[in-house]
This record gives sequence, structure tokens and C-alpha cells, in this order.
Amino acid sequence: MAENIFKKISAEKEIFQDERVLMPDYLPEVMPHRERQIEEIAYGLKGAAGGKKTENMLILGPSGTGKTSTVRYVLKQLQEYSQKVVPIYINCWESSTRHSILNNIVSALGEFIPRRGISTDEITDRISEVLRKGKKIPIIALDEVDRLFAGSGDEEKVLYDLARAKELFSTDFGVVAITNSDEFLVKLDQRIRNSLVQKQIGFKQYSPIELKDILKSRAKLAFYPESLSEEVIPLCAARAAKNNGDARLAISLLWKAGKIAERENSEKVEEGHVRKAFEEVGEGEVVEEKLHGREKEVYEFIRERGEVTSSEIYEKFKDETDRSIRNYISMLASLNLITAETRGGVGRRGNTRIIKIKK
Ligand SMILES: Nc1ncnc2c1ncn2[C@@H]1O[C@H](COP(=O)(O)OP(=O)(O)OP(=O)(O)O)[C@@H](O)[C@H]1O
Ligand SMILES: [Mg+2]
Repeated sequence: MAENIFKKISAEKEIFQDERVLMPDYLPEVMPHRERQIEEIAYGLKGAAGGKKTENMLILGPSGTGKTSTVRYVLKQLQEYSQKVVPIYINCWESSTRHSILNNIVSALGEFIPRRGISTDEITDRISEVLRKGKKIPIIALDEVDRLFAGSGDEEKVLYDLARAKELFSTDFGVVAITNSDEFLVKLDQRIRNSLVQKQIGFKQYSPIELKDILKSRAKLAFYPESLSEEVIPLCAARAAKNNGDARLAISLLWKAGKIAERENSEKVEEGHVRKAFEEVGEGEVVEEKLHGREKEVYEFIRERGEVTSSEIYEKFKDETDRSIRNYISMLASLNLITAETRGGVGRRGNTRIIKIKK
């Protein structure tokens, strides 16, 4: 009789000590080469701990340079340090309307929101009320804030609300806006800019040496000692350095190489596994990792089928407005992930388009 499969695989030598450390949503406990930025953000927010006004900031830099993680890191420390502060992290891909952002704020303040929802004015009133009673200062991180300008609507109006928070909610808000789009500042109305961007903190692409340090700090927790051969980290770092110094790519290469080694039953991650990981991580995949929420779901729906009509997408995501579906489609097309062609017949919602996966 063949050997029991579980007996066989449990006898294998393990490579990963804790794989979660290499997942995209893992928040690192140390962030090498971001000490200066951590300090600058902390100085800007320091006032909040004493119930005072903070400096509103814009965090700007290319993808994978640690913007999200650094801000989350500082907010976590601030929360541990002071009872006066309510840090609220919002990703604008996931909450992209004024209503959903305000909703996020009110529930982060501990308010119960009925399922039927409440109007934006009611939310605003509730926020003021809680803040008046609790005397707490909310610090709002608006990640990927450029998303608020992606649609044709007036999503960005919420920035007005935050810019004049003192008037609207009778309390100052701390705002930390995060973006990787250089154009963001240009799109901001002068008045909003003056109030929301009192300080700018730039994040630069990582050098190969910096990426090596980042990988080392993660690898220590993720792998068993001795399970990485020497060349693995330098290789992943070099490849990611060529790809815009993106730490996300570096970490994902390291993880993939580990998975390949594991699959091949190897005792160690070797150069060959890293080379295979390079092949697996095509350019496209890096883009895909940047998709969020509904956009990602729409993309996956198209990818599973290879080709769909726009009506099928509308049908599948009935709860979305036509405009947002159109936005998702054009965003995916602009990322070069899909093609959208108008074809002859006119469907229920205008011209039917044929959407195809590009790769
Ligand atoms: N200095 C660092 N130390 C440890 N890990 C880091 C560091 N910088 C980035 N990372 C890791 O790299 C990945 C990408 O970082 P992050 O998501 O913060 O980048 P980002 O600048 O927000 O990118 P994007 O613009 O695409 O959102 C995360 O897994 C994060 O933990
Ligand atoms: Mg980010």
C-alpha cells in the first residue's frame, strides 16, 4: 500500500516558521529605513495627545515605499500612547463616497449605525455630538486619497468637510492623506490644500541595500533559521530595486520562492526557487495586487470567464450604480488588464461592450 499522504507530508522539513509575516496586510513591528518619516509623522500628530491641534499632512511617494505601513505603524503607537485620540484608517478605494467615509468615521467613534443607514446630515450631527461629549480628537488617515477624484461625481467634497472640521464638527480633526499620485496636489482646490497639506512627507524608492534590510527583518520571523540560502535575499532585493524599489514586490518574491521550495520538498530556499518566483511574478501580477475591494471583484469576475459583456457585469454587481461599474471598467482598462470594445447591439444600458482579459 502507498504511504499515507499525511504521514509523508508531515515528515517533510518545514521552511516557514510563520508565513503570515510575508502577507500584504501584515503590519511590521520594525520598519528599517523609515525612522525619519515615522518621527516626522509623529511630530505632526503629537499635539493630539494633549488635546491640541495637529498638523495636517500629505504623504507622497511611489508604490511599495512603505507609506501605508508607516502611517498605520504611527497610528497604532499613538493609540497605545494616548486615550485622547481616535485613529481612523480609511482606504478610499474601499470607501470612496462622502457618505461612506463619514459613516466610517462615526462607527470608528463607537456609534451604532442602523442597517437602513442614516443621512449624511445625520451622520455629521452624530459625529459632532460624540466628539463634544468625549472630547477626543480623531486622526483620520485617508489612504489612496486620489481615488476621490477618479469618478465623475463629487466624492472629493468630503475633503472640504475635513478641511473645515472645526466649523462643521466643532472639533479639529487631524488628517493624514496618503497618495502615490503626483497629480493629486494639482487637483486640490487652493483652500483645501492650505488646510489639508500643512506638511508634506516624501517617501523615496528603496535602494537594493535598504530592500535587503527590510527583507532580512521579515525573513527572521517568517522562516526557520538556516532555511534561506545566502543568495536569496540579495536576489529578491535586486529584482525589486529594478522594479521601482518596491518593497511589496521584494516581500512577495521572497514568499513565492519559499512556497516553491516547499512544494519541491527542498530543505532550503535556493537560487533556483527565486528564479522560478521571478517567472511567476509577471508585471501584471504586481498591478493586480494593487486592486482593492469591488474593483478587484470585478476584475476577478472577468478573469474567471476570460470574456464577458458589460451587461453581465452590471447583472452580477446589481447593487453598484452604472457609473461606478463604468469607472471600474475604465480603470481596469487603463491598467492594461482588460480590453473593452463596443460591439453592435444596444443593451439595456446603452451600448453593450465586450470585456476581455488582456493576458
Ligand atoms: N521599511 C519597511 N520595513 C518593513 N516592511 C516594509 C517597509 N516598507 C515597506 N514594507 C512592506 O512592503 C509592503 C508595501 O508597503 P506599503 O503597503 O506600506 O507601501 P505603499 O507605499 O503604501 O504602497 P502603495 O502606494 O502601492 O499603496 C508592505 O508589506 C510593507 O509591510
Ligand atoms: Mg499603500
